[in-house]
Amino acid sequence: MKDLLYIPAPDRYEKMMYRKCGISGIALPAISLGLWHNFGNFDDFVTGRNIICAAFDAGITHFDLANNYGPPYGSAEENFGRILRNELKPFRDELLISSKAGYDMWPGPYGNGGSRKYLIASCEQSLKRLGLEYVDIFYSHRFDPETPVEETMYALDQLVRQGKALYVGLSNYDPEQTFIASQILEELGTPCLIHQPKYSMLVRTPEEGLLDVLEEKGIGAIVFSPLAQGLLTDRYLNGIPDDSRVAKPNRFLTKEHLTTELMDKIRRLNSLATERGQSLSQMALAWLLRDPRVTSVLIGASSTEQLNINLGALKRLEFTEFELNHIEEILA
Ligand SMILES: NC(=O)c1ccc[n+]([C@@H]2O[C@H](COP(=O)([O-])OP(=O)(O)OC[C@H]3O[C@@H](n4cnc5c(N)ncnc54)[C@H](OP(=O)(O)O)[C@@H]3O)[C@@H](O)[C@H]2O)c1
Repeated sequence: MKDLLYIPAPDRYEKMMYRKCGISGIALPAISLGLWHNFGNFDDFVTGRNIICAAFDAGITHFDLANNYGPPYGSAEENFGRILRNELKPFRDELLISSKAGYDMWPGPYGNGGSRKYLIASCEQSLKRLGLEYVDIFYSHRFDPETPVEETMYALDQLVRQGKALYVGLSNYDPEQTFIASQILEELGTPCLIHQPKYSMLVRTPEEGLLDVLEEKGIGAIVFSPLAQGLLTDRYLNGIPDDSRVAKPNRFLTKEHLTTELMDKIRRLNSLATERGQSLSQMALAWLLRDPRVTSVLIGASSTEQLNINLGALKRLEFTEFELNHIEEILA
């Protein structure tokens, strides 16, 4: 049976807030969608497609991928490529699509790290899986201490000059590495558009210098795992649901993370969110977006319902001094 024609919501751009990415000409939706989990070949394709179409309907123009998102590696790009060829085909120029290389992808010495060989070959593979001529943003997924940073930055610059990426970004680089790498990119004439660090109420590392460097260098920030992979939601308030990330085989979020101390904090945050008339996930996203240096929060979702709840964060972004202090007190 042929799929029904997808017609996106005509009012999609009125629903979303767009924020300038550093000093660039690019604006990102305040909420972007990542395909790390839930979009691989072990997941239900139709559910994934529905989430992506619902996101586009809500004005989410930015979809984030990496070479090894799946599982298996590469399958999130393949599945997104299928949606790009069908539902989203007429809308390529309304979309900002990113991919990355840096972590483990294929066997041997050239399938991991920051070498020119790996980055160029991986980007080529990603383009094939996505069925695209170029990605909008290509990231060095991590700083590689085994590769001169110049080599990694020259590779990113080369991808832009080859027309395979429009912009480049850095992910998981610390403040000093970011400063040095962005200096090199600036000199090459390919300024760093964006940085992708992990940041949430539970992971505060970017406050220790990174956000300052990004501001100084005019680089945008798109923060990943803003819900701490689901911890900052109501997902685990009453145990571990069978279909949750914790219940699925993965090494990134396991039941060992759900300590009594953490769950106590989450319950107290949840009460505060209720007092604000929000869900915990909405409050967690609003809390990040109150910093103008944060261009976008990069969420994941395993259902359209979760996505829609999270989009509701935009209805209440402001915090009182009292609420902010209360959050700090809970998190201390
Ligand atoms: N650069 C990097 O190194 C790096 C690393 C990690 C991630 N990322 C990027 O960041 C994106 C997001 O990461 P993430 O998936 O960890 O983000 P997240 O938004 O912190 O967590 C998403 C998970 O939280 C749960 N969730 C979301 N909304 C919910 C709601 N309203 N109610 C209940 N549960 C909810 C879902 O878990 P369930 O599956 O349990 O339903 C969902 O899969 C990735 O897709 C990727 O693009 C980048």
